[in-house]
Amino acid sequence: MTPSNLLLIVEDDPGLQKQLKWSLDDYEIILAGNKAEAITALRRHMPAVVTLDLGLPPDPTNASEGLATLKEILELAPETKVIVVTGNDDRCNAIEAVAMGAYDFYQKPIDADVLNMIIARAFHLQALEQDFRKLQQQQTFSTGIIATSSQMLTVMRMIERIAPTQATTLLLGESGTGKELLARALHEKSSRAKMPFIAVNCAAIPESLLESELFGYEKGAFTGAVVQTKGKIEYAEGGTFFLDEIGDLPFALQAKLLRFIQERVIERIGGRKEIAVDVRIVCATHRNLQELIAENLFRGDLYFRLSEITIEIPPLREREGDIMAIGNTLLKRYCKDNHCKEKRFSPEAAQAIENYAWPGNVREMENKLKRAVIMSDNALISLEDLEMSAQPENSMPLNLKAVRESAEIAAIKRALHYSDYNVAETSRLLGIARPTLYSLLEKHNLQDLIRNQLDQA
Ligand SMILES: Nc1ncnc2c1ncn2[C@@H]1O[C@H](COP(=O)(O)OP(=O)(O)OP(=O)(O)O)[C@@H](O)[C@H]1O
Ligand SMILES: [Mg+2]
Repeated sequence: MTPSNLLLIVEDDPGLQKQLKWSLDDYEIILAGNKAEAITALRRHMPAVVTLDLGLPPDPTNASEGLATLKEILELAPETKVIVVTGNDDRCNAIEAVAMGAYDFYQKPIDADVLNMIIARAFHLQALEQDFRKLQQQQTFSTGIIATSSQMLTVMRMIERIAPTQATTLLLGESGTGKELLARALHEKSSRAKMPFIAVNCAAIPESLLESELFGYEKGAFTGAVVQTKGKIEYAEGGTFFLDEIGDLPFALQAKLLRFIQERVIERIGGRKEIAVDVRIVCATHRNLQELIAENLFRGDLYFRLSEITIEIPPLREREGDIMAIGNTLLKRYCKDNHCKEKRFSPEAAQAIENYAWPGNVREMENKLKRAVIMSDNALISLEDLEMSAQPENSMPLNLKAVRESAEIAAIKRALHYSDYNVAETSRLLGIARPTLYSLLEKHNLQDLIRNQLDQA
């Protein structure tokens, strides 16, 4: 990471060094008097900005050592903004330096105010570029997670915040809402990303096997324990351990897990040795842990340990705008996977997808769309391909104002969908002027639909 106000000054004249250090007091300054010192300082401190005198020893009358230094700096740290400082008649080398990748040049004699301004701009640009790189990285990190609703964007922001910490995190959400995907995102965005991510699903493993699956066993611990075997927790050493369906963890094992969380040591079954394990713990469940605690099926003390940070993942039907965003993206993805031409939803199909409650959330949508892509024999995905039915008429409200509003909302969403969220095209389809569309979007609180699409474009 580049500290934000570190400035490296490469200047061989001790008098000028002093003058610069004195006049550039907004920054944390490192000084270097020649190429070797400059490169060492660069490697050690990774400054955001460098001012580089082109006339460096052994022959300060000539720019060759300065240009060689510039080249090496840019090879080592291409993001660094280098401002070259040249003699007053040396425009030619200044231009060559900029062509090589220097950010800007400045001709002696030094006017502190002007140089200060150039340096401030370089810092500003460097910070902007660094933010931009971070954003780009995040998008590749989070590949796979489609989120446009404000609810999911809030969840994603929390994930960003929590990922670098060691906090034990509990993910709550209905089945298929993306708990495992988010657990992986937490891992991938943490400093543990290169270490293992190990998941154990408490509901999928018979109670009798779960203990040895988690903690491992020593040779001879029980009949059939023929070799010493590590548990999954140990395999996660240095990485993240994801305990899925924690609500299904048998009561007897909860005490053992609690001990591990408190003391960060495990004992294999049949073993006497305590083994220290360094893992970040993430848990998930679709069950209501408070209710389980009330029924004495889940330990309250374990719950408190697990829920240092709790993230509630909203069901798909409550995420404004996500249903269609996820539907369209998955549809594209599956068409590509199946090597078929891009398909679209028929108007009835799009309407049914919007109106459906998706009890199985994203997983259910995945299943329906995978099937539909295989079943459909033309460019439009129909209700039949999805095995869905049109919304029954009697679900419409009776109050006329409510009917108008819900029809208005449905028409706007459909038009947006058809036009690929193009505002001009949407207003044309709806037969209204653009300003009217904007005010309708505002009235129904749908502005995010176009905003998110613009962000993604
Ligand atoms: N926001 C999303 N964007 C894209 N794909 C998603 C999203 N949320 C979930 N998925 C996909 O949906 C499927 C279900 O997600 P995941 O397994 O993470 O959910 P879960 O909450 O753990 O579900 P379950 O309770 O069924 O185990 C996965 O294939 C996942 O990749
Ligand atoms: Mg899961």
